[in-house]
Amino acid sequence: MPRFMRTAMEWGTLTDMDKDIYILGIESSCDDTSAAVLRNGVLLSNVTASQAVHEAYGGVVPELASRAHQQNIVPVVDQALKQAGVERSQLSAIAFTRGPGLMGSLLVGVSFAKGLAASLGIPMIEVNHLQGHVLAHFIKENEEDDHAPRFPFLCLLVSGGNSQIILVRAYNDMEVIGQTIDDAAGEAIDKCSKVMGQGYPGGPIIDRLARQGNPNAYTFAKPNIKDYDYSFSGLKTSFLYNLRDWVKEDPDFIEHHKEDLAASLEKTIVDILMKKLRLAARDLKIRHVAVAGGVSANNGLRNAFHEYAQKYHWKIYIPKFSFTTDNAAMIAITGYYKYLDQDFCGMEKPAYSRVSMQ
Ligand code: KG4
Repeated sequence: MPRFMRTAMEWGTLTDMDKDIYILGIESSCDDTSAAVLRNGVLLSNVTASQAVHEAYGGVVPELASRAHQQNIVPVVDQALKQAGVERSQLSAIAFTRGPGLMGSLLVGVSFAKGLAASLGIPMIEVNHLQGHVLAHFIKENEEDDHAPRFPFLCLLVSGGNSQIILVRAYNDMEVIGQTIDDAAGEAIDKCSKVMGQGYPGGPIIDRLARQGNPNAYTFAKPNIKDYDYSFSGLKTSFLYNLRDWVKEDPDFIEHHKEDLAASLEKTIVDILMKKLRLAARDLKIRHVAVAGGVSANNGLRNAFHEYAQKYHWKIYIPKFSFTTDNAAMIAITGYYKYLDQDFCGMEKPAYSRVSMQ
């Protein structure tokens, strides 16, 4: 019997197990302020306020992000409760992102969660943002939803700050078996997009351009890194240097070739990601493979997952677009499983900016 079920049954002898469990999830690790409400593991609401203020700077400005979180957090939580039709007094616990992320941003969500939990006299549940991305696959939008991966599975977690291969043995048992030694995949895409003079964030822009380009038009450096680890800094430099040379010869090069550049860049990144994932799946003899994080919205990566599923008989799990980027539904579902484990935390827990899952 999985650990969380056993604990829930034990807990049931102490508490009224017939009572509905309402979890409020709060996410504020980067530039999205998000709140979600679950009843017994089923999503009732998921409200996110994004911050357009960073577009002008070509990247997230931490100080502006924390100020925007301060403005957004009260209305976002209020709206999530209203949409769910749930009163504050009904909440069983508050799950919040404790880290990793931007310290100023995290502090807003962590402080808010502490204040609300203290005023309501309910437990708090700390959530690791990365674990939340993986457990986004367990978000149920209705009682019948049963698309969740089977344990054990591999999860490729690709976002603006991380590129990891995670072996997921249970809700509460995850091991990072490979990760980037420098830049994350999303960071590389964003930086290359910036070098091309495109907007921010670069991921969706590169994705859109790539759909109209030739993925084999250009080749860029691919890393040679041990085991299941990744590296994207060499690719970024190779992209930058090639582009400089081409623009020297033709100042309008980017404008004339941006679709092919985007498609070739995307193909290179997807090839790098999938090669290591395939290696891990083969070595560990695991056929259940998931993808998570902001870059999992990428169409080239999604297509590659479908190709690999056919070729290597994988059962694949691809999240809905709304659960790929930062959202509180994934924090709430992680909080729900921790609630069943009675894995609560105290008021003294500070936010942390850089700890990984291990
Ligand atoms: O998970 P996320 O929302 O935030 C964290 O980094 O935690 O991921 C954001 C990253 C950014 O680098 C963004 O450019 C990338 O995900 N991204 C995409 C796409 N949509 C978002 N990358 C490629 N293709 C996309 N469609």
